[in-house]
Amino acid sequence: MKRICIMTTGGDASGMNAAIRAVTRTAIGNNLEVLGIEKGFRGLVNNKFVEMSLRSVSGIINRGGTILQTLRAKEFHDRKIRETAYRHISAMRVDGIVVIGGDGSRMGAYTITKETGIPTVFIPGSIDNDVYGTDYTIGFDTAVNVGLDAIDKIRDTADSHERIFIVEVMGREHGFLALEIGVTGGAEVILIPEFKDKISVKNVCDTLEQGVRRGKDSSIVVVAEGYGATPSLAKAIEKRTGMETRYTVLGYIQRGGKPTAMSRKLGLVFGYQAVKALMKMKKGESKMTAMQSSGYRMVEMKDVIKKEKKISMQEYQMNTFLSL
Ligand code: F6P
Repeated sequence: MKRICIMTTGGDASGMNAAIRAVTRTAIGNNLEVLGIEKGFRGLVNNKFVEMSLRSVSGIINRGGTILQTLRAKEFHDRKIRETAYRHISAMRVDGIVVIGGDGSRMGAYTITKETGIPTVFIPGSIDNDVYGTDYTIGFDTAVNVGLDAIDKIRDTADSHERIFIVEVMGREHGFLALEIGVTGGAEVILIPEFKDKISVKNVCDTLEQGVRRGKDSSIVVVAEGYGATPSLAKAIEKRTGMETRYTVLGYIQRGGKPTAMSRKLGLVFGYQAVKALMKMKKGESKMTAMQSSGYRMVEMKDVIKKEKKISMQEYQMNTFLSL
């Protein structure tokens, strides 16, 4: 292995820069050349290679987003377009590729190896934390903390006005982000797509009204974007409980900002692991960096690809007590 390249794809997540830094420095420290690919898979198709150096990754560890930029390249699903990318990879004499991104990006990395034999390592980076095979993805912890900061502020108004506040958070069709923010933010109710059929608007209102009877002045309801219909939910709650109800959609605020220590650390360790693994990998191999309960490890791509991560019902139920 002489030359590797690195790219970020899908939605940006805080801590991706820490991973780019770690990949670049670990590779150069091991006498490898590193090329960056700008704008993810589209950059690969458009031949957007840039040279990475020890100094080109200075001063980025504390920055959100990704210096290599990113996008969702739908065209990469087209085999003909991928062939163009493969021609560029071959012309640039790239021996291994590190792809940082979410679940869709993982499939992209796996496909490159399947179709060309070039070893790939996928580093999970997404605020959604919905990647099977790892407990945490880069950026999740930062997004959780942004959500907590927002809830702490909203609570001031909720308490002062005796209101119910619905806070909608991102997470695509999953509730990992909402559950973590809801539990650690002390939300009275958490609504996630995975358990949508388990809680009716009546259940939600009953819980909120019981809280009032126990002396609560205000309540916070955290809703995952994948649950949907936040404005109509606010109206329904206000109508049923008679309590003033407002909602806030946090949106893209959660994607950016300074990465937390955990998001940086994941980026740094995953980046380091990725290069160390690539150096030993053979043609046709594809792996993923992961954090699992017993520590950092590499997992075989074939063991995790196409599998769906399940949310913990236990943790979800725990919050019904924590919010009493
Ligand atoms: O995957 C990260 C994420 O922020 C999701 O939580 C959200 O649904 C989606 O990206 C938004 O995507 P886009 O940036 O393409 O609008």
